[in-house]
Amino acid sequence: MLDRYGRNIDYLRISVTDRCNLRCRYCMPEGVELVPMQEILTYEEIREICAAAAKLGVRKLKVTGGEPLVRRGCAELIRMLKTVPGIEQVTLTTNGVLLGKYLPELLDAGLDAANVSLDTLDRERYAAITGQDALGAVLESVDAALASGLRLKLNAVLQKGVNDDEWFALASLARDRALDVRFIELMPIGAGKGIRGVANTELRAELLRRYPELEEDAAVRGNGPAVYVRVPGWKGGVGFISAMHGKFCDRCNRLRLTAQGRLKPCLCYGDAVDLMPLLRGGAHGTEREALLCQALEDAVASKPAQHCFEAPERVTETARMADIGG
Ligand code: 5AD
Ligand code: SF4
Repeated sequence: MLDRYGRNIDYLRISVTDRCNLRCRYCMPEGVELVPMQEILTYEEIREICAAAAKLGVRKLKVTGGEPLVRRGCAELIRMLKTVPGIEQVTLTTNGVLLGKYLPELLDAGLDAANVSLDTLDRERYAAITGQDALGAVLESVDAALASGLRLKLNAVLQKGVNDDEWFALASLARDRALDVRFIELMPIGAGKGIRGVANTELRAELLRRYPELEEDAAVRGNGPAVYVRVPGWKGGVGFISAMHGKFCDRCNRLRLTAQGRLKPCLCYGDAVDLMPLLRGGAHGTEREALLCQALEDAVASKPAQHCFEAPERVTETARMADIGG
């Protein structure tokens, strides 16, 4: 699907739940209200939406949350999505706590790759950032996933004065491991408003100072906005997702589907096409499929040229990142 700025939209991010087993302060702080299950898309509804999207040219799906692996049957959803005609790739974004446990099922379901969120390598700090003493489980999951041959990326969000001193230790995970480490600039969405992040431009300059032989990696990897560099001799790459200091909107290729069935043209704005009335309104068969396709086309047609995270007062999205799926 081409939008009105000529961008090809072939990627759909799907939040399968607003729930999470962690409470990262910038995403889902303690005390948040959860959405009742009947207001959450069923797996069959998600499959239908993906089938319509695939008819219109979507090729890649990302299953995200909240934490997708806390929803029962997540691996079965992935298996279903892998069989949707036209879908070439199904990947997962997870905090990694349960990845080790579900890895065999996920691999069997045909999962193509996983992104694991990891903001610190210090056990106490991990507990302070996420509310759970779960660093050990995440690191075990990462090792197990690597050993299985699953393609893996680690996502790190740096907060000023909290974990920014660890950026190099985190980046160095790509030295001896065949995985990419990516730094996501903190965005002023939901609980992330008011927390200070770190500019990727600084990290990149510092990495270049340490490794003057640093190479830009022009090969597009994965689905989107990350820019990668390669330190000669390192097994994996280092990526930067710079929502605040490096607009990537001209390369935007995605729609987002929230757990409650809202199709979001852009992360930054509250506008969405609500699929629930359509899905639960009694339309059947080809009429239903045509309505879904129309809704997807409407969402693509209303994609704005760019986000406005640099001007947080213009951000109209009020949902939490855990509802949207990052
Ligand atoms: N800004 C940037 N990244 C965020 N994430 C959650 N909230 C924010 C935010 N406000 C990240 C998580 C996870 C990914 C899916 O999104 O750390 O790695
Ligand atoms: Fe959960 Fe991910 Fe949000 Fe942390 S960032 S609370 S792991 S959904």
